[in-house]
Order: sequence, then structure tokens, then C-alpha cells
Amino acid sequence: MENLYDRIGEAGFTQLTRVFYEGVAKDPLLQPMYPEQDLGPAERRLRMFLEQYWGGPDTYQQERGHPRLRMRHFEFKIGPKARDAWLSHMRKAVDSLELSAVDEAMLWDYLERAAHAMLNSFED
Ligand code: HEM
Repeated sequence: MENLYDRIGEAGFTQLTRVFYEGVAKDPLLQPMYPEQDLGPAERRLRMFLEQYWGGPDTYQQERGHPRLRMRHFEFKIGPKARDAWLSHMRKAVDSLELSAVDEAMLWDYLERAAHAMLNSFED
């Protein structure tokens, strides 16, 4: 049980991204940013990426290549409001997992830093 993927498994990451995307689907700022009507494929990409990052299978890399996430997000205008909305849905998703305090702090710290790093606009 060395890494987070071992501890929460595919089921944990599936729940994380499902709860997150339930929030995104109803978000008036974020939902229109998604190029595809169906959020299912985007949910799967995020799940694969996070599973890979936290020690699970490298399916993301095999299907999508190097993540280059900042670059992949340049086409979307991510200002402070979008970042905060993204984080608010992630907060609910992380809470739904009922992780140990250590795992929760580690996962949340990563997500917060990653979301701040994705900022590419200072307008809302
Ligand atoms: C800060 C606010 C963020 C916004 C508004 C945002 C928005 C988006 C949008 C609109 C897409 C395109 C959906 C798709 O077709 O996959 C996307 C893709 C993606 N996002 Fe974000 N994102 C944010 C932060 C993050 C963060 C922090 C991560 C990682 C921890 C992340 C990981 C991904 C991944 C893995 C993809 C799919 C990339 C690909 O393979 O094409 N995003 N995001």
C-alpha cells in the first residue's frame, strides 16, 4: 500500500472524478468551457491522468502522450474565478472519499498547487 493508487484504487479515482464532473456539469462558468457536450470522455481523461500521477496504470501516457497540462489548457481562459470554481468541485469530490488525514492533505495540496499553476489569465 505504498502509494495513493494502491490505497484507494480505480474505484477511488472513479468516484473522485465522477463527483467532480457532477459539479462541473452544473457550473455556469466551467461547463461552457468544455468543447464536448458529453463530459464523459473528459472525465475519463482526468481520471487516467490522476491515476497515473498517483502510481496507477500509465494508460493516460499511452493514449495521450506526455501530459503537458499547462500547454493543453492554454486554449481555455483560466482566471481566478475558473480556478476557484474548479477547486470548489474538487473539494467536494475529495471530501466524498473520506480519506485518512494524511492522504487527504497530500491529495489536496497537490490539487491546489496544480490548479494555481493552470492560471493563464488574470481576468475573471
Ligand atoms: C484550474 C482550473 C481548470 C480548468 C478550468 C480546467 C479545464 C479543462 C478543460 C475545459 C479541459 C478540456 C476537457 C477535455 O477535453 O479533456 C481540461 C482537460 C484536462 N484537464 Fe483541466 N482544468 C483545470 C485544471 C486542471 C488541473 C489542476 C488538472 C490536473 C491536476 C487538470 C487536468 C486535466 C486533464 C488531464 C485534461 C485532459 C488533457 C488531455 O489529455 O487532453 N486540469 N481541463
